[in-house]
Formats: sequence, structure tokens, C-alpha cells
Amino acid sequence: MRKANCICSAVMMGIVFCLSLVGQTQQVPKASPKQAAVNPVHTIVLPQYPPEIAAGPHVDTYRKDCLICHSSRYVAMQPRFSKGVWEKEVKKMVDAYGATISDAEQKEIVEYLVAVRGASDSK
Ligand code: HEC
Repeated sequence: MRKANCICSAVMMGIVFCLSLVGQTQQVPKASPKQAAVNPVHTIVLPQYPPEIAAGPHVDTYRKDCLICHSSRYVAMQPRFSKGVWEKEVKKMVDAYGATISDAEQKEIVEYLVAVRGASDSK
């Protein structure tokens, strides 16, 4: 008799548990159309700044080789350097930072840098 009571109460508890789960799933709040209007998906328009790359000889080589790792602005914000300093800068990018730029292209880039950011005694 005691055993039967035990099984009976276990079954009852199981049913109550199942009902409570059903109750919970029914209580999940659904967004009403009114709420959806209050929280629409927003779109924003960000300002677009054109890249600041000065026109000059071999600008395409410069663009291809030098702007993989940093911006053109970072290069343009440097002081106006002599040709010798720009040569060392370009070499530094290759030797110290691992830029893969052929000797011929390095010369082209120095020519570009001297043209757009050279010191007055560069030429
Ligand atoms: C492989 C990545 C890489 C490439 C490619 C690269 N640079 Fe750099 N450049 C760097 C790093 C790293 C720094 C140092 C950044 C710092 O100090 O915060 C740097 C710094 C500079 C500076 C600042 C001055 C200095 O010496 O630190 C200049 C100018 C510059 N680069 C020019 C160039 C030019 C011109 C080219 C193309 C020939 C070039 N970079 C290509 C990685 C690169």
C-alpha cells in the first residue's frame, strides 16, 4: 500500500512539473506590433572621408606597397624629409617591419615621397 502511494505521488509530481513547464512556455512575452514600432531597426549614415593620398609620380606603387600596414595620413604627417631620409624610411619599412618591396619599387616610392613630402633641398 505504501509503495503504491509512493508511485502515485511520484507520478503526480511529474505531472505537476510538466504542467509548470507548459505554463512557462506560455508565459513567454511576445512583442506586440506596437512594441515593434517603438524599437525599429535603426540605420545610420556615417561620414565618408576620402583617403588623403597626394597625387604624384608612382602614386600607384606607393598605394600598393605602403598602405598595407598603415594609413597614408600617417606618412603625410611626417615632417618634410630630404631624399636621404626618405630612402632610409623606406628601407626601414623593409628591413625592420618586413615590407616586401623590390629595389626598383623602393626607388619609385622615394621619388614619390620626395615629390609630395620632400624638403626644399631634396631635389
Ligand atoms: C609591413 C608593414 C609596413 C609596410 C608595408 C610599411 N610600413 Fe611604414 N611603418 C610600419 C610600422 C610597424 C611603423 C611603426 C609604427 C609605430 O611606430 O607605431 C611604420 C612607420 C612608418 C612611418 C613613421 C616614421 C617611422 O619611421 O616610424 C613612416 C613615415 C612610414 N612608416 C612610411 C612608410 C612607407 C613610405 C612605406 C612604403 C615604402 C611603408 N611605411 C610601408 C609598418 C609598415
